[in-house]
Amino acid sequence: MRTKNYGEKMDVLDAIKARRSIRKYTEDSVEDEKIQRCLEAARWAPSASNKQPWHFVVVRNQETRKKLSEMHPYGQFMKDSPVVFVVLGDPDLNPKYYLMDACIATQNLLLAAHAQGLGTCWMGVIDASFENDMKALLKIRDPLRILCCVSMGYPDESRTSSRRPLSEIVSYEAYGK
Ligand SMILES: Cc1cc2nc3c(=O)[nH]c(=O)nc-3n(C[C@H](O)[C@H](O)[C@H](O)COP(=O)(O)O)c2cc1C
Repeated sequence: MRTKNYGEKMDVLDAIKARRSIRKYTEDSVEDEKIQRCLEAARWAPSASNKQPWHFVVVRNQETRKKLSEMHPYGQFMKDSPVVFVVLGDPDLNPKYYLMDACIATQNLLLAAHAQGLGTCWMGVIDASFENDMKALLKIRDPLRILCCVSMGYPDESRTSSRRPLSEIVSYEAYGK
């Protein structure tokens, strides 16, 4: 199921609001150019002092995806998602902000995927009991950390979601006003 905006230009706010976490994908493989565009969007994320303390491992291999899916209790669908990005943060490049920066890059990646008709789902990994197992599987050196895995493919489900109203999450001039 491809979104109606597939292949068309999409307004940024529309893209932000229409993106949903997609956990079921068609068997269509994802074109290399689309993966590259996602990585390009991640690359251009802002980062503290422009340190860019991130790295992305692109996993297409079925056996590796199956192993990742078996390690992650809420990520079983990685087994059946054509692509998995494993997003790393590098504390050597910025000990204070590496996680924040890698999060921003990941959101850029999610939005670029959505704008190209692709579905994604972010799965948290950092500090999980299985983070080191994933590092060993992918030969990730210390002190790099795995922020998250992101599955990606053409959506085979449609989802709705909701958000807390602005009135609950915004104050003006001082908290609570
Ligand atoms: C830090 C983080 C960790 C998440 N971990 C998981 C996960 O392990 N498994 C999963 O299926 N979804 C995971 N999600 C997706 C959220 O469940 C989803 O973003 C949220 O329910 C809102 O839905 P939406 O993305 O469709 O708007 C995670 C999202 C974030 C930002």
